[in-house]
Amino acid sequence: MLRLIFLLVSLASNLVLGQGPDPAVQKACTLFKQKVFEERVAISFLFPNAPITWETLDSCHGSRPLIVDGDPAESKEFPHAARLGHRNEKNETKWFCGGTLISNRLVLTAAHCFYTEFGAVNVVRLGELWFDTDEDDAEPEDFGVLRSIEHPEFKEPALYNDIAMVRLDRAVNFSLYKHPACLPFDDGEIHDKFIAIGWGQKALAQAESKKLLKVELRNYHQRCLVTTEKNEDLPEGFNATSQMCIGSPDSKDTCNGDSGGPVLVYHKDFPCMQHVIGVTSTGISCDTPDVPSVYTRVNHYLKWIKAEMAKVT
Ligand SMILES: *[C@@H]1O[C@H](CO)[C@@H](O)[C@H](O)[C@H]1NC(C)=O
Ligand SMILES: *[C@@H]1O[C@H](CO)[C@@H](O)[C@H](O)[C@H]1NC(C)=O
Ligand SMILES: *[C@@H]1O[C@H](CO)[C@@H](O)[C@H](O)[C@H]1NC(C)=O
Repeated sequence: MLRLIFLLVSLASNLVLGQGPDPAVQKACTLFKQKVFEERVAISFLFPNAPITWETLDSCHGSRPLIVDGDPAESKEFPHAARLGHRNEKNETKWFCGGTLISNRLVLTAAHCFYTEFGAVNVVRLGELWFDTDEDDAEPEDFGVLRSIEHPEFKEPALYNDIAMVRLDRAVNFSLYKHPACLPFDDGEIHDKFIAIGWGQKALAQAESKKLLKVELRNYHQRCLVTTEKNEDLPEGFNATSQMCIGSPDSKDTCNGDSGGPVLVYHKDFPCMQHVIGVTSTGISCDTPDVPSVYTRVNHYLKWIKAEMAKVT
């Protein structure tokens, strides 16, 4: 009996350990938030030799915005949103994928973005809201790409392990317009709803929106096991370990995610921060209600992402 109780207790603590956020991921997330949203100010007194004390001003508060489907994003709402493209010798740029800033150097995206007809990803835009206008409240800045890192188990045309990172040619100076999203604290299954964002391409490089759009999507958990047919993209069908099944119950516009772009949830304690839980992977069905799409489950790849981050000096 005693042995059984001991076994149960150690099993339970293992479970709790296994489910808790990764400490390094948690620490990085808090650090990003502090860098952008907390400011230390000196408070002195008016008489000579008075001690100087410090106060922390924290501007990370307020309620989470209500997401109306297919609505344009607000300024500074998704400061981690990245757009990936190819710039040719004539300095013409084709933008064709989305991404998420996850450190001062790394942008998370989908591995299949490296296998398009448009050429290598060699330019990343951060801090953008509306393309082709300076009228928006944004601070767009283009970065070059030092290195493209795709998951070693990605074997196109199959879309398993459809996850990659690009290393920017210089460090991003964090601001309200440009700062990282946090990595996941959990595998995503505890969340019922997500936010997907993008410049509105249904698949690679179709008609696109000039404005960054946001849409609320639902977690369909295991549903893709039956709704997703085996094909060239997914020869073994949906894999619930490494992929997520997310969609919309109405025939509303769910075309808003760029390939490689994020599905997000809000940080439990910091309303100013979001976690990137999934990466938009397979083509998104636009007009079929209750047909969810397949996304890469970021939490499954934390170890690989952290190892790549550690290489960045
Ligand atoms: C290329 O285009 C970008 C974005 O339009 C612009 O900022 C940059 O100055 C251009 N570079 C050259 C060499 O013309
Ligand atoms: C970041 O800020 C530093 C100091 O202000 C500046 O020298 C550097 O060029 C900036 N980097 C970028 C990528 O804007
Ligand atoms: C799903 O993917 C995981 C990790 O990549 C793999 O170990 C597992 O065998 C796959 N499961 C199925 C049913 O294909």
